[in-house]
Amino acid sequence: GAVVSNVRCIGAGYVGGPTSAVMALKCPKVQFTVVDIDSKRIDAWNSDNLPVYEAGLDDIVRARRGVNLIFSTDIDNAILDADIIMIAINTPSMEKDDRLGAAADLRGIKQCIQRIAQVARHYKIIVERSTVPCRTGDIISNILRENCHPGVNFDVLSNPEFLSEGSAIRDLLYPDRVIIGGLDGTEGAQNVLRSIYSRWVPEERIVTMGLWSSELAKLASNAMLAQRVSSINSISAVCEAVGADITEVARGCGLDARIGSQFLQASVGFGGTCFHKDILSLIWLSESLGLRDVAEYWDQVLKMNESQMCRFVRRIMNEVEGSLEGTRIAVLGFAFKSGTGDARNTPATQICNQLLRQGANLFIYDPKVPDEQIRDNLAGELDSRESQLHICHNAYDAIAGSQIIAILTAWKEFQAIDWVKAHSQMIQPAYVFDGHRLLDGLSLERLGFHYASVGTPSKGGSKYPNHILE
Ligand code: UDX
Repeated sequence: GAVVSNVRCIGAGYVGGPTSAVMALKCPKVQFTVVDIDSKRIDAWNSDNLPVYEAGLDDIVRARRGVNLIFSTDIDNAILDADIIMIAINTPSMEKDDRLGAAADLRGIKQCIQRIAQVARHYKIIVERSTVPCRTGDIISNILRENCHPGVNFDVLSNPEFLSEGSAIRDLLYPDRVIIGGLDGTEGAQNVLRSIYSRWVPEERIVTMGLWSSELAKLASNAMLAQRVSSINSISAVCEAVGADITEVARGCGLDARIGSQFLQASVGFGGTCFHKDILSLIWLSESLGLRDVAEYWDQVLKMNESQMCRFVRRIMNEVEGSLEGTRIAVLGFAFKSGTGDARNTPATQICNQLLRQGANLFIYDPKVPDEQIRDNLAGELDSRESQLHICHNAYDAIAGSQIIAILTAWKEFQAIDWVKAHSQMIQPAYVFDGHRLLDGLSLERLGFHYASVGTPSKGGSKYPNHILE
């Protein structure tokens, strides 16, 4: 294959760091440099305390750093001798417009491309690695063409990341697929990038396609994954009402090979940085193209997610008769999913805000989310309610003296709680509301708990109206 000596990555964040580390591991003869304008972040990559936690990442960085993996703030030098430049700069959503979705903020990427054009003296392959709106490749090509030195050419490729938090290294080492998108005439460049991945990814998993197809495949993948969660959550609402069990329904559906069994777990709703943002971006794109129905279709996936969170709070209010004013609730889990301390866009924010508004006293425990992050997320509600919020550092501190337990993240350690002890320390009648179907409801009920989980009716709680049968 083609000879590549220098690969550079601009953006030392969650995408750029792990991607470059795994590539450096698998391509020992290629030099990788990860650059960022944020010198604190680069310092952290050069320390024992990496700014990103992912299982396996530490070991890889320790093995390759200073060998063929360098972290630096010298962006211009990195550009100069690069053969390939990966762009891994984050593209947050701009202010959300309720009807129109939200555009992604491309300012960071544009500035960085401008810089590449000004500095570069020879041919380079530019690779979009972070999620970008469709046709960003076009914008990048134009900026390069208009600002480059005479005679310097570029090929622009799209190579979207499909990393899931908590399993980023595994996802990079054993990807389901690697997509390399490019315009007509960039086949040579696509092959160069392919030659990097083919060192560890089976050939049939590396697919090339058009640039815009590749950009859209990324948005569509996340939109469809989120849609599956909204689909199963919508059915969970029906289960609770008619007396069916969502785990059984999901099993009945998932055994159809066309549907598949993964990603069908009912929950309090999806969170995280990607699903919400990418759907907003897809809605924005559809609206811009005049595709109203398409925009509304995807908007419904977000609406279903909101409604799932509200339904969870309403269920607590319905089952615990009377108001929640002054009721002590142990909130177990705040992260948007287990295995991470990431609380960006976590359903817990909305649920806790609603509970605070009902006057409940929250005792929140999460094994990984920093206290400050929890306070930040709830800041909007806290002005007058500071005294209702307590952050605990183990589950029992949150539970003792509470009447209600709400499970908002599926942390495995909650399964190991001593429920006899927990029950004895709670105000009676004690309730558990399980937002992730994490616990064994029958044994909790045997201990005397009122147990309610997403996707199953509460004891005697099925409200199946007779007239449907008539
Ligand atoms: C996701 C995609 O999986 C990944 O491919 C993409 O590149 C980035 O976005 P991530 O946000 O890390 O990754 O988390 P993921 O594990 O996909 O979960 C997202 C949310 O959906 C979580 O809040 C999770 O609790 C929820 N979820 C997931 C469910 O509620 N039910 C499920 O069955 C699966």
